[in-house]
Amino acid sequence: MEFHLLSIFALFSLALRGSNASLPAEAYWKSMLPNTSMPKALQDLLQPEFKNGISFSTLSFGSHKSELRYGVGYWPEVTKSNEVFIPSKTTIFFLYNDLLPHRKMTLKFTKSNKTSNFLPRKIAETIPFSSNKLPQILNYFSIKPSSKEAQIAKRTIEDCEAPNIRGENKYCATSLESLVDFVIRMYGKKVQALATEAEKENKEQEYTILKGIKTIGDNQIVCHNQPYTYAVFYCHTINATKAYTIPLQGVDGSKAKAIAVCHTDTSAWNPKHLAFQVLKVKPGGPPICHFLNSDTIVWVPN
Ligand SMILES: *[C@@H]1O[C@H](CO)[C@@H](O)[C@H](O)[C@H]1NC(C)=O
Ligand SMILES: *[C@@H]1O[C@H](CO)[C@@H](O)[C@H](O)[C@H]1NC(C)=O
Ligand SMILES: *[C@@H]1O[C@H](CO)[C@@H](O)[C@H](O)[C@H]1NC(C)=O
Repeated sequence: MEFHLLSIFALFSLALRGSNASLPAEAYWKSMLPNTSMPKALQDLLQPEFKNGISFSTLSFGSHKSELRYGVGYWPEVTKSNEVFIPSKTTIFFLYNDLLPHRKMTLKFTKSNKTSNFLPRKIAETIPFSSNKLPQILNYFSIKPSSKEAQIAKRTIEDCEAPNIRGENKYCATSLESLVDFVIRMYGKKVQALATEAEKENKEQEYTILKGIKTIGDNQIVCHNQPYTYAVFYCHTINATKAYTIPLQGVDGSKAKAIAVCHTDTSAWNPKHLAFQVLKVKPGGPPICHFLNSDTIVWVPN
């Protein structure tokens, strides 16, 4: 009798736990990557409950303020009108030689206030994602073809369709589940997922590099959260790139554990790339580093 009650109780608590715990995408992550903790940047994009009847008004485009898109295809970060976005004092690119304790840099870890959430894979897979289906996509989300949102959506899709640059292996994930699958295809299940974590976001201030810089690997998959009606990650593997975790302390006392990547081979980059202009070096020159924003995920094999 006692045993019986106990097992009923056990069943009950299992059922309870099952019911509140796992969102489908989160459950998928846990089953596929049991030993990998999910960065906050991804947790934030899970929807507690998915309702049918998505409309554009309930989903938001990320407000990607910065015109700089680190590394995505290594496009020249120069707009057609030749305007270059350089926030006054902020360090965007730096040379590997400056990655040392006690060095100071003015940094701003930006986080968009409005990022789109993941759609469940089953739904995402029913929605086209290609530039020749753009009219259907815009129609699906009730986006006016002439709107800024339409331009942004078009560019995100085109970035995903652009040919790989030399040595790059890329993939656009339209759901958390497909992101997980891509990473497992590349690295297997023994992986770490990392993102910059800063106590103060969206505040420009001077930071000092503390002791304890760690190399986190010579191979990474870097996934950028792209502006779109639902969460889309542009992921790429790049050769000749080293990643580091860097402890920082701001002048206001707040801490950050930032991820920086350093590109040791820049010979294939566009000579007009902003990094060359800012650092006054040439393609194929010294390693160029940059911090990653908190909505960029870096995967490294364990
Ligand atoms: C997000 O909102 C806060 C407070 O409203 C604002 O200070 C900050 O600049 C915003 N960040 C971005 C990236 O728009
Ligand atoms: C990049 O690295 C991969 C794996 O090590 C290798 O197969 C590929 O040839 C490299 N690409 C370039 C352009 O060096
Ligand atoms: C996860 O960790 C457990 C315990 O350390 C280990 O037995 C298991 O093989 C690991 N699984 C993966 C996919 O790494």
